[in-house]
Amino acid sequence: METREEIRKIVFELQQKINEWDHQYYDLDNPTVSDAIYDSEFNKLKKLEEKYPYFFSYEELKLSPTQKINATSLDIFTKVKHDKPMLSLNKAYSIEEISKFISNIEKITKKYSFFIEPKIDGLSISIKYKNGKLLQAVTRGNGIIGEDVTENILQIQSIPKEISLKDELEVRGEIYLPIDDFNKLNNNLELMNKPKMANPRNAAAGTLRQLNSQIVKERNLSAFLYYIVNPEKYGIKTMQEEFQFLRKYNFQISTEAQLVKSMEEIRKYVHDFKTKKQLLNYETDGIVIKLNQLEFYDKLGYTAKFPHSAIAFKYEPDTVATLLKKIFVTVGRTGLVTYNALLEPVELSGSLVSYATLNNFDYIDNLNINENDLVYVKKAGEIIPCVIGLALNKNKGQEKFKKILNCPFCQSEFIDSETKLEQYCSNKNCPEIIKRKLIHFASKDALDIITLGEKNIELLIDKNFIKKPEDFFLLKNHKDKLLELNRMGHRSVLKMLDAIESSKHKSLEKLIFALSIKHIGVKIAKFIASKVRKLSNFLTFDFASLKEYNEIGEKITTSLILWVSEFENQELINNLINLDMDLEYNESTINNKLQGKTFVITGTLSKPRNYFEKIIIENGGSLTNSISSKTSYLIYGYDAGSKLSKAKNLNVELLTEDDFLRLI
Ligand code: IVH
Repeated sequence: METREEIRKIVFELQQKINEWDHQYYDLDNPTVSDAIYDSEFNKLKKLEEKYPYFFSYEELKLSPTQKINATSLDIFTKVKHDKPMLSLNKAYSIEEISKFISNIEKITKKYSFFIEPKIDGLSISIKYKNGKLLQAVTRGNGIIGEDVTENILQIQSIPKEISLKDELEVRGEIYLPIDDFNKLNNNLELMNKPKMANPRNAAAGTLRQLNSQIVKERNLSAFLYYIVNPEKYGIKTMQEEFQFLRKYNFQISTEAQLVKSMEEIRKYVHDFKTKKQLLNYETDGIVIKLNQLEFYDKLGYTAKFPHSAIAFKYEPDTVATLLKKIFVTVGRTGLVTYNALLEPVELSGSLVSYATLNNFDYIDNLNINENDLVYVKKAGEIIPCVIGLALNKNKGQEKFKKILNCPFCQSEFIDSETKLEQYCSNKNCPEIIKRKLIHFASKDALDIITLGEKNIELLIDKNFIKKPEDFFLLKNHKDKLLELNRMGHRSVLKMLDAIESSKHKSLEKLIFALSIKHIGVKIAKFIASKVRKLSNFLTFDFASLKEYNEIGEKITTSLILWVSEFENQELINNLINLDMDLEYNESTINNKLQGKTFVITGTLSKPRNYFEKIIIENGGSLTNSISSKTSYLIYGYDAGSKLSKAKNLNVELLTEDDFLRLI
């Protein structure tokens, strides 16, 4: 629990940061953070101010950017007290917390089911009907008192103005702006040189509080209804019946609502909806799990704020802020330099993250981050977390991070790539490059020598057993010396030698991939293998001739031609051939199920991306980075972004991870 002083400090820092963001955005037309981050920080501030109002003076609160945004919150709408308070929902962030919620219900009844639906990220509204006519619509406000926005609600097409029920009725639901309409609105605002809306929810809020209801009409707000006040009046006994009742009177209800009976079914819904929600044309903020049997609601009781009979499940955020302790570079097997961040360890999507990638120097320069800053870290697409932005500049002198010019492993100067985007260590004898090459040679997608992980390879290099890839295959001649190594037991040495022998005939494409030739990934290696046919053709093959194929560009042929021109590489190939490794391309290992199909992968999947890429390649399919009309399938995971919407627009077939595995 933070002290008053700590809370004040956090709030002031947030206020200062958001003021700066607002200034950049509104005054300088130069957005410096993503909407997601802005919203998350804005909401954090708002929540803290609401939770601890007595920690601040009136002036301090009035100056907050949270007040400025609501410049429209003049007293123009009539305040109305709700007949029944509009409660909020308790939140669960994990399956365990849902289990706890259910255990509590089990104390009262064993005969239960749950009604689940998306939690719409909009604004709640309560609407009264009398004599079949829409009488009054009031916003949630603080839950007790809201504002009368009837005029504006009457402009919303999907809300019935008349219903065939004569009894008085009060229904509650969520007003939202569809994502399509939100994008349209922002495009128009941009054309008119007006500030854009941060997100659909803010846009909906701003629209609902418009004085001119004509504007509301144009903006195409919509609503999902999910709640009836005093349902017993209509003989309704379950949440499911509430839905049927709402549907009967032509209210729009969620198409994603579902009755579930067990924890297992809840778990499945939670899992499936995580990817499904990205396809919806409205934003959601998790899911709502409501006890279906209304008879137990009063028995379960309420706190001042929420009922014990329903809960909101929120998916964990995949972005967190943490301290960037150090920036350092690593050098890969092709000499490519990667900038990395050492972080104050932080929990992110279920694991503790201490490192994140920063890609290259330009990336750091553009984000304007430096050591000791507070940064945002995201886990997306790849399994490796990435720093995505500056949260708070703690770097007093505002000093910029300087480009690293020398290799920390061999001290030689880095050289820039042609595009100037990447840096390389060009020292062929750089110990780090040699080590990375050897590790790669034995790795899973290359020769897959199971016993040769990073630690063992380091040991073998250290003890002078290996310098070049072909040395692996000579280790069997040093069995006695290997057995003397303290760190390796007798059995593991034998196992290692066995694994090395059996790796010799994996396949030509794996061997080509294992060579660490710049720009030659698994996919290209396979293609090259199919053209070269035999390792003994490799050194004399006319790589320039491959340019006629779509898969192969100038960058790749140049890299291959350069590689075979180098003496050590020629020696390596010849040595491998002499070691009885003149592998031939084996057509029969190919499965052609995905022949001619092009895939794009986006979002976070349950396994690293290369797992899926491998399956695609092995089945004859191909991969590209961007969506076009030629793309056959998009495999999308959690948190997919623009690729997903582009694919939808182009009618590219969409596959979840499960769909894809079924396809195979
Ligand atoms: S049910 C007694 N269902 O979430 C339960 N609420 O944190 C009443 N919300 O203010 C709420 N989508 O505005 C329910 N499908 C949904 C919802 C939903 C969004 C909002 C609601 C409420 C807040 C609760």
